[in-house]
Amino acid sequence: MEIFVRHATLRLPSVVVAVSIKTFSALLIAAWVIQAACLADTNIPENLADLEKIQQYFEDRFPDVPKHEFANGVYALDSVARDNWEALEEFPPYEIYIDSGETLWNQHQKQYLECFPDGPGIKHRYPRWDEQLGTVITLAYAINLCREKHNLATYDYMGETLNSLIAYMAYLSRDKIINITVPNKQALGAYLDGKRFYFSRRGQLNFACYHCHFENAGKRLRTETLGPALGQTTGWPTYRNKWGYLGPLHKRYIGCNQQVRAAPFAPQSEEYRNLEYFHTHMNNGLPINGPSVRR
Ligand code: HEC
Repeated sequence: MEIFVRHATLRLPSVVVAVSIKTFSALLIAAWVIQAACLADTNIPENLADLEKIQQYFEDRFPDVPKHEFANGVYALDSVARDNWEALEEFPPYEIYIDSGETLWNQHQKQYLECFPDGPGIKHRYPRWDEQLGTVITLAYAINLCREKHNLATYDYMGETLNSLIAYMAYLSRDKIINITVPNKQALGAYLDGKRFYFSRRGQLNFACYHCHFENAGKRLRTETLGPALGQTTGWPTYRNKWGYLGPLHKRYIGCNQQVRAAPFAPQSEEYRNLEYFHTHMNNGLPINGPSVRR
C-alpha cells in the first residue's frame, strides 16, 4: 500500500533529504526528487489511477464479494450484521424522510429546477468541481447555494430538513452510476487534498482512515466490524439507529475523527468537501443506493 501512502505523507522526499545533506550535489538530487514528486502530483491520469488500484485492492482482499456489494458497506462482509440490516430494510426507517423530502422539493420546485435543470435525481453527479467558484461542490452545498440565490433561508447541514430533501434526491438517483470527474489541475489539487486526508494519521490514537477502512477492513473493532473504504459514500444520507435520525456523511466524518480523538472539522468545510471528493471518486462505477439504514 506504499503506493497510496506516498503522496499523502510525502515520505519519499523527506527520506531522500535526510540521507543527502552531506554534499551539495546530493542536495541537488534531493531537490530534483522533490520537484519530480510535486510534478507527479499534478499529472492527472497518473493520479487518477488510484481508482483502479483501490478497487483492485478490495477485489483482491475480498474475492468472494461481488463489486456492487461494496455499496452495502460493512454488510458486504459481516453476515450476522447483514441479517439484522436486511430485517431493518423490510420497514426502512428512512421512508418517511423521502416523503417529506418530496414535499420540500415540490414546495420550491421552480427555484430548484433553475439550479438543477435535470431534476432531483442527480445525486450520482456530486461532489463536483465548480470552475467558477474554484471549489468542490457537494449536493448539500449546492442546495444551500441555490437557496441563497433565490433568497430562501439556508438549511442546517446536520439537520433533518436538508437531509430529507437529499434523501428524496438520492432515492430518485438509485442505481445511477457514480462518475466523478477531476477536470483540471486545480480540481486535482482538491482531490489530492482529500486523498491526503484519508491517508494521514491523526488524533491521539494516531490512526488514518486508511488504517481502519483499508488495512483492517473486515476485522473487528470492539463490537463492530470495520467496513471497506470502497463503497462508503454510496448510501447517504443514512438513518443510524445510534443517531435516531437521518444524518449526512459529514456527520460520520466527524464521528470517525472523534473516535481517534482528533478535532473534527465543520460539516461542509473545505477539508470535508475535498475528502468527499476523493472518497466518492474511488466509488466511480458503483451505483447510488441511498438513503440507507445503519446500526
Ligand atoms: C479507529 C477506526 C476508524 C477510523 C480511524 C475511521 N473509522 Fe470510519 N468507521 C469506523 C467504524 C467502526 C465504523 C462502523 C462500521 C463500518 O461501517 O465500517 C465506521 C464507519 C464509517 C463510515 C460509514 C460507512 C457506511 O457504510 O455507513 C464512513 C463513511 C467512514 N467510517 C469514514 C471514515 C473516514 C473518512 C475516516 C477518516 C477520517 C474514518 N472513517 C476513520 C471506524 C473507523
